[in-house]
Amino acid sequence: MKRFFIGFMAVLFIVSMVAVTMVYAGTIKAPDKPLVFENRHGAVTFDHSIHIKAGLKCQQCHHMWKDTSKPPQSCKECHKKKKTGGVPKIYNMAHKSDHSCKGCHKAFKKAGKKTGPTKCSGCHKK
Ligand code: HEC
Ligand code: HEC
Ligand code: HEC
Ligand code: HEC
Repeated sequence: MKRFFIGFMAVLFIVSMVAVTMVYAGTIKAPDKPLVFENRHGAVTFDHSIHIKAGLKCQQCHHMWKDTSKPPQSCKECHKKKKTGGVPKIYNMAHKSDHSCKGCHKAFKKAGKKTGPTKCSGCHKK
């Protein structure tokens, strides 16, 4: 019983330290591991670190992120399978306009800058 209590207090201590660190750190960090989006066309892997090293700013992609004391919303909280209200569908979110994945890669390529894949199979891996 005593052992259990000590264990419990230790967990409580760690949890509160993590909470304190998060509050005082103040800034939200980009995930350091690549994110994988499962997709019927083949999974797409997205690595923040490569993009941040290339000089991109968070808001170039997280274009609705204002309160940076909170993590950015997931793109799909707004972008759905089909266009909803004024929000373009997921397909456009990923492939159209200069701040989409494919759109940006294309624009950079056109400008002669180092860029990411523009072919389907460059992003979608089966
Ligand atoms: C090139 C585009 C791009 C840039 C630049 C970018 N992000 Fe992201 N980020 C994304 C995408 C796409 C997601 C996945 C969102 C989703 O799940 O819908 C994401 C997810 C996240 C998440 C949630 C991670 C998770 O595990 O779900 C955080 C936190 C985040 N980004 C922080 C940042 C910060 C901080 C920066 C700037 C230093 C940044 N991002 C720059 C595209 C980008
Ligand atoms: C709070 C809701 C919201 C979130 C979260 C959001 N978007 Fe959007 N997005 C919109 C709206 C509204 C528009 C249309 C108006 C505009 O362009 O600002 C849009 C437009 C876009 C467009 C232009 C598409 C086209 O057809 O021209 C792209 C690309 C895009 N968003 C990518 C993203 C990505 C990537 C994320 C996540 C990292 C994201 N959005 C998160 C609401 C959102
Ligand atoms: C605003 C511009 C921009 C946007 C938006 C963007 N990228 Fe990129 N991407 C780049 C640039 C620039 C590079 C080249 C970085 C380098 O090699 O230094 C790159 C490289 C890549 C690479 C090759 C490096 C690697 O990770 O293997 C992949 C894959 C990639 N991007 C996927 C994505 C995906 C998926 C998204 C959307 C979620 C996305 N990118 C959004 C600019 C962008
Ligand atoms: C630069 C990276 C990139 C390239 C190039 C690319 N895609 Fe995508 N694609 C994505 C991302 C990211 C998503 C969103 C994944 C998710 O979260 O569902 C996506 C989603 C899709 C979807 C699903 C849309 C939906 O409604 O859910 C289809 C279909 C698709 N891509 C087809 C293609 C085809 C066909 C090509 C080539 C002509 C292509 N993609 C090129 C990154 C890319």
